Amino acid sequence: MNDKKIVIAVDGHSSCGKSTMAKSLARLLGYIYIDSGAMYRAVTLYSLRKGWIPNGQPDIKKVIEGLNDIRITFRWDNETEKNTTFLNGENIEEEIRKLEVSQNVSPISTIAEVRHEMVKQQRENGKNKGIVMDGRDIGTVVFPDAELKIFMTASPETRAQRRFLELKEKGLEVNFDDILANVKERDEIDSTRKVSPLKKADDALVLDNSNLTREQQLEWTLEKVKERTKKH
Ligand code: DC
Repeated sequence: MNDKKIVIAVDGHSSCGKSTMAKSLARLLGYIYIDSGAMYRAVTLYSLRKGWIPNGQPDIKKVIEGLNDIRITFRWDNETEKNTTFLNGENIEEEIRKLEVSQNVSPISTIAEVRHEMVKQQRENGKNKGIVMDGRDIGTVVFPDAELKIFMTASPETRAQRRFLELKEKGLEVNFDDILANVKERDEIDSTRKVSPLKKADDALVLDNSNLTREQQLEWTLEKVKERTKKH
């Protein structure tokens, strides 16, 4: 679409369709897609398996030491727009989406050392530009100079309903109220944590998609990409 490659940061609340939008965008532009949330989920899964999060409270020292033994990689299939996350070579894509991981990921993502390591790896992925990365702190911390920053949001009920359907489609046993409670709890933790809280970057464009179709969102975003690639 354009020769000039830029960095596109997509931040926002959980379950508001960031990754769906970011993936479609990456495919259309021929860009790399990185799901930064999957990286925090991978650290969480590893810690859960090791028994380092008893009663929802991570053993911070152990988690930090464990970072040396964790290698997170992705495989992206352009045809299907499927992104698969690997932890030390094991496909963990399905496991990291389960409620147990969702319920434990926020405390893991508040650990400064964990964030430091993830941000280092994320910047490495984006050093040649031509990347779409979604998360919470991409426009504020990881790539503060990103040429295009989008802050996505939707009401908690809309987001819980979307996640409910997504998990149900995968054949998982789910309860709407549990999911809504988890969405609200994560909003609270993500926005109030001391390290890199979820916050709109001053120069980010807000996209409230409560009443927008995927196509409308994509169209809106592609227009912004055109504007930015023209300017730079
Ligand atoms: O996008 P997600 O729901 O898969 O993210 C999982 C968790 O990881 C979320 O609760 C907040 C955290 N996260 C973060 O702190 N920073 C990011 N850049 C991405 C995700």
